[in-house]
Amino acid sequence: MNGSKRTLVTCALPYANGPVHIGHLAGAYIPGDIYVRYLRMRGEDVLFICGSDEHGVPITIKAREQGVSPQDIVDKYHKIMKDAFTALGINFDIYSRTSSAVHEEHASKFFRKLYDEGKFITRESEQYFDPEANTFLADRYIVGTCPKCGNPNAYGDQCEKCGSTLSPEELLEPHSKLSGATPIKKKTTHWYLPLDKYEPWLRDWILEQHKEWKTNVYGQCKSWLDGGLQPRAVSRDLDWGVPVPVEGAEGKVLYVWFDAPIGYVSNTKELLPESWEKWWKSDDTRLVHFIGKDNIVFHCIVFPSMLKAHGEYVLPDNVPSNEFLNLEGDKISTSRGWAVWVHEYEKDFPGQEDVLRYVLTANAPETKDNDFTWKDFQSRNNSELVAVFGNFVNRAVVLTHKYFGGEVPANLKPEAIDAETLAAVKPCREALEKYVETFHFREALKEAMNIARIGNKYISDMEPWKVAKTDMDRTASILYTCLQICADLAIAFEPFTPFGAEKLRNILRVGIDAGHDYRAGEGVPTENFYREGESAALHTVPSTEGIVLKWDMLGDAELLPAGHKLGEAVLLFQKIEDDVIDAQIAKLEAIKAERAAAEAAKKVEPQKSEISFEQFEAMDIRTATVLEAERVPKTDKLLKLTIDTGLDRRTIVSGIAQFYSPEDMLGKQICILANLAPRTIRGIESRGMILMARQGDGKMRFITPQEVLANGATIG
Ligand code: MF3
Ligand code: ZN
Repeated sequence: MNGSKRTLVTCALPYANGPVHIGHLAGAYIPGDIYVRYLRMRGEDVLFICGSDEHGVPITIKAREQGVSPQDIVDKYHKIMKDAFTALGINFDIYSRTSSAVHEEHASKFFRKLYDEGKFITRESEQYFDPEANTFLADRYIVGTCPKCGNPNAYGDQCEKCGSTLSPEELLEPHSKLSGATPIKKKTTHWYLPLDKYEPWLRDWILEQHKEWKTNVYGQCKSWLDGGLQPRAVSRDLDWGVPVPVEGAEGKVLYVWFDAPIGYVSNTKELLPESWEKWWKSDDTRLVHFIGKDNIVFHCIVFPSMLKAHGEYVLPDNVPSNEFLNLEGDKISTSRGWAVWVHEYEKDFPGQEDVLRYVLTANAPETKDNDFTWKDFQSRNNSELVAVFGNFVNRAVVLTHKYFGGEVPANLKPEAIDAETLAAVKPCREALEKYVETFHFREALKEAMNIARIGNKYISDMEPWKVAKTDMDRTASILYTCLQICADLAIAFEPFTPFGAEKLRNILRVGIDAGHDYRAGEGVPTENFYREGESAALHTVPSTEGIVLKWDMLGDAELLPAGHKLGEAVLLFQKIEDDVIDAQIAKLEAIKAERAAAEAAKKVEPQKSEISFEQFEAMDIRTATVLEAERVPKTDKLLKLTIDTGLDRRTIVSGIAQFYSPEDMLGKQICILANLAPRTIRGIESRGMILMARQGDGKMRFITPQEVLANGATIG
């Protein structure tokens, strides 16, 4: 397929500042895994690289917010992410991290080579500086009021409320997140990669030589190039990252987008200290980056320019990228908590990893943004995986046990329809191959599913359970045909739903040649090995019966010979009931409600019209202490309080029962407006009013002096 070339597949290194969610999976990781599994089944040499991206400003901010170190944050999320990928059968050859020693050394060396060869320019610029914390401030560290929507918590690079992209200059009342000080501007020098110099080369390389790239990727590249490229800073004033390996560069680190993609190389080097160069520095390698659409410019323009400047590395051959996946109509967001997290899915749907893989592929945002809904998830599971694929296999196997003692029957009474049916599988296989090889996984999966549909229709039309009453020979041929299709499915679904495919192979008692991994080239025997703790679905799985399926057998007339003994029938997929889906929807609704409440709480009433000093002075506001408190009978809002005002003991009726019980109020010092005209409420005379602070969402709290004072102290 790829001639003699080996294929180096990478998936974007996810930021270690949050767990993996379905948007990540759909964007890069599931497509990457399908591609790798497929290539391996075809006998290709493949290396599959990923790891955590552990630098960058958001990680330092998260650490500060939680009062821990950045290393604590990345340690936590690195583990969560690594486990999530493993659970879903996404088996990278290595999943390392950019805080590793190998990476620091390799990224430094990379920078140093470009530096020594004069590939960078330096520029002095004015950057924001916190004079109290004595440090430069990344845009994210500057907060202020959004000039577009008035959000008082907008960041220097973006307002998360209205979505506007901002620069710190635009913020009203900017202040440092670190100290609250007003940032000042200070001169600083940084290294820049002059992308403008690479522009002619990039234009030719992408726009002329890679017209085959997916249209969304090609289109984004073209518009960047047409807009003109500028030198890009590759260092930052920050204390978290790979230190700039140049004398006098104290306090400076490599920009995260400079060091992270080098992580692909460092991780390869960590895995293969002796032979990594063969993967990165040989024209026999095809490099393929799987990424999400927000990474396109970095992987198609910036990183290739870095590689070109370095001069020794291969350039990407393709950069398949998906668009975004939304969740129930809203943009997925880690910071807003709007996501389906893989580690939570694992808890809620144990053993159902394939369903998520299936749905995210069937509904992948390949050409446009797409929406994940729990209803769609349920219906794809129930009406496709269960009702078509699972149901077909189950009927074929159960009937074989019932009529033929669990042995593949001989093809005793063939009819034309049998051969026609089997022949229909080949075109599905060819289409599937074409689609996977051009990164159209959603279409490819449709073709795999078509094979199941062909089988399901055939068994429904042939009705072997009826034929069995009169013609056992014909029944034998029908089930023989069905079982061949089952074997086809065990091959075709291996890249997409590897757990179900493995179950199916156990039912059929066959093995699979799932190819070999990088160790084949390292002199490690490739047969019968799996990595520790890893699903046996990967690599060669031998069969006790001696039948080993191979990709090239897909669509052959006979994969399982007559007399081959089957295993027990087990269900490949489980129906998902409404209550399970309703619980997931309720979980999302709770997140929405919480967010709406948080928003409402921040809503601020407009200022009232001006009053005179005399009007203010006319109000008698004082401290008082609650002596007795009880509910006003037959109301749920009112408390009757007896208070000591310093002047007297009096009764006030107050509408705070939703927020405070009588016990809560007992003995508390409060503030009151004492000279309010008396009012009779529910037959009780109320003299004065308790001062309460009321938030935008209606929540109220009484006002109390910062320290207990004598009752009757005047306020003003
Ligand atoms: N951490 C980035 C993200 O999650 C991706 C980095 S990809 C790499 O968007 F090339 F830099 F590694
Ligand atoms: Zn805004």
